Amino acid sequence: MMSRILIVSNRLPLQIKVNNQKLDITPSIGGLATGLKSVHTSHNSKWIGWTGLVNEEIDDTIRPAIDQAMKENECIEVPLNEADHELFYYGFSNKTLWPLFHYFTQYAEFKKETWTKYRKVNQKFADIVIENAEKGDKIWIQDYQLMLLPQMIKEKRPDLSIGFFLHIPFPSFEVFRILPWRKELLEGVLGADLIGFHTYDYERHFFSTVRRILGYDIYFNQINLPDRIVVVDSFPMGIDFDKFYNAAQENKYRAIKDKTTVQRELEKYLLDNPKVKLILSIDRLDYTKGIANRLNAFEYFLNKYPEFKGKVTLIMLAVPSRANVSEYKKMKSEVDELVGRINGEFSTIDWVPVWYFYRSMPFENLIDLYVSSEIALLTPIRDGMNLVAKEYVASQIDKKGVLILSEMAGAAHEMSEALVINPNNYDEIADNIKDAILMPEEEQMVRNNIMQERLKRYNVKKWAGDFINALNEVHKVQDQFVSKKINDRLEKQIVDQFKCSLKRILFLDYDGTLVGFKNKPEDARPDAELYNLLDQLAVNRKTEIVLISGRDKETLAKWFDNKKYTLIAEHGVWIKKPDKDWRLIEQMNVEWKLTIRSVIDMYVDRTPGSFIEEKNYSLVWHYRKADPELGIKRANELKDELTSLVANHNLEILEGKKVIEVKNIGVNKGRAAVQRLGSRKYDCIMGIGDDWTDEYLFERLPEEAVTIKVGLGNTKATYNIDSFLKVRQLLRKLANC
Ligand code: ADP
Ligand code: G6P
Repeated sequence: MMSRILIVSNRLPLQIKVNNQKLDITPSIGGLATGLKSVHTSHNSKWIGWTGLVNEEIDDTIRPAIDQAMKENECIEVPLNEADHELFYYGFSNKTLWPLFHYFTQYAEFKKETWTKYRKVNQKFADIVIENAEKGDKIWIQDYQLMLLPQMIKEKRPDLSIGFFLHIPFPSFEVFRILPWRKELLEGVLGADLIGFHTYDYERHFFSTVRRILGYDIYFNQINLPDRIVVVDSFPMGIDFDKFYNAAQENKYRAIKDKTTVQRELEKYLLDNPKVKLILSIDRLDYTKGIANRLNAFEYFLNKYPEFKGKVTLIMLAVPSRANVSEYKKMKSEVDELVGRINGEFSTIDWVPVWYFYRSMPFENLIDLYVSSEIALLTPIRDGMNLVAKEYVASQIDKKGVLILSEMAGAAHEMSEALVINPNNYDEIADNIKDAILMPEEEQMVRNNIMQERLKRYNVKKWAGDFINALNEVHKVQDQFVSKKINDRLEKQIVDQFKCSLKRILFLDYDGTLVGFKNKPEDARPDAELYNLLDQLAVNRKTEIVLISGRDKETLAKWFDNKKYTLIAEHGVWIKKPDKDWRLIEQMNVEWKLTIRSVIDMYVDRTPGSFIEEKNYSLVWHYRKADPELGIKRANELKDELTSLVANHNLEILEGKKVIEVKNIGVNKGRAAVQRLGSRKYDCIMGIGDDWTDEYLFERLPEEAVTIKVGLGNTKATYNIDSFLKVRQLLRKLANC
């Protein structure tokens, strides 16, 4: 059976207003609400969100009607009061995140008060989702207003599959880092199992930000959290193509008596002025939409190409939006003024260059406009997607019409057949308006045909379907790890086996397994708790503790001198038994070091923050402290360069966590462990490690050994465990038995 989907967004798909004690219900505008409507009706779904009315506006007389509307529309209300609305909606969502994510950093304000409310309201949403979620439901959270919600839900209900989709751009790290609460916000989103963006650009900004702020490893499109895998992908949102295409068709063949007033007036105007072409723009009145640029560019066009005066009219529909935010208010005046100025300057008795509407319009009038306009001019300065561009193309049933679209809109990635412009380049816009007016019909048809085919295929149903399928798949990926993860039952089994055994050996890697990573290797020295734990284990004569590490013997000797553990250093070059001296496990030559060192030195110079560590039988390049992306890039280059050299010297390259190590071939932890086991008989063998170099150990230990990898990722070990802290917990249990 298809699982139920709970859609969660700040705004419900219906907007409720009160008019004379009566409810006035209209569909919500904006890409998100319009786009998800079809998912809502087809996926046995409930939609959780805010009605558009604050509690203070709702009295007992209208309450029943609201409840009724919620029920009829399969919606669940999240009640918001005046203060929530002010601080969460206008405040943090629209005065901090919206401008910041659209690169309007100068408009972004950072107020603790609005941040606190943002957290509280997200918690309010989380409580309502949790209250309504049934077993097996999928939760699909939408957009920047609810970025903390995934984590809040995941903490309480880890069983629920959670998807998060960001409908606006995810900015570059350099911009995101400005936010004082950047870490909390990222962690909030990472509560999801699947995170979706409109374009790959937003996705890569997100990866780079996660790497830099949280330091998680990312493999292809998977982020490895300590206890979970999160998948990230781009899903460009489509539109309900048929709805627009059919509505346009219906509009064209409608009987005169059924025509809307707008349609009649437009048709009459075009009949009276057969030479005039209409250029359309539709957007919310938002500073990201480049409305002022558009007007300026249009004015520039009229001056640059005066032969078109009287022959084009710009119809500009701006839908009121977030009018309480001062930047929006300012912008409204600016646009009013610009329109006034242009019309004042260019109008003639029978021609007005700009028709400006500041209001919302019903769907059928939207179609009237799409159908009657030969050109659409959309010039956002930043836009997550821009569905209007897609809707315009879908409405051109005769395939005629030219779309001029800003390259800053997510939609431009999929609509390269449009005339793509930079919204700050007035010359380019003016030239493209001229080209659009003069474009031969055949060319228009070729371009629109390609775009329409694509829009038909990647429609909103496909978008939602792809996202939901991916959400199902994520679960499969995660389950692979869950089945290997040490749970209470497995832990008990391991402890019982240990308890019953008479001769045990424990191979323990050090960094990442017994201690966490530090920026400088020398800082990761053992703490009192660790000494105590290992001592307690080693005191039992039935147990041999072997610390098997890539560290050099000097460091291990310094930290574990006089301890009753066996030490294996440099991945298996040296061994030291308790109360004995170090001895070489294998004899090796090190003449190669000089050549390799000169290569690595060059990488140290070119990669700030990286450094070289020289061990007796190996050289290691560390890049943990380097810029994460540069580090990865240089590591690949270094590996490339070393590959030809190592073959000549009988060396091999080991890739650990943020390190590249070159050492003599054949020396590895697996071989060293096998040597240590020798022909002795053990009835309990364990190996625990966290990185690639420990895979040799897991591979070579006998089949009956218990092998455990710390962290997630593909491994030859039998089990996974979350972190070094969990390793310590397990060792504590072994020590106590
Ligand atoms: P944003 O999401 O930033 O508002 P989009 O272009 O992605 O911008 O989406 C706007 C959506 O709102 C479109 O689906 C469009 O059809 C709808 N819309 C725009 N103006 C109106 C209007 N006046 N009345 C009804 N719907 C509108
Ligand atoms: C954009 C945002 C949506 C938002 C819509 C309308 O599409 O991505 O999250 O709902 O604009 O804005 P509003 O503030 O009215 O909800």
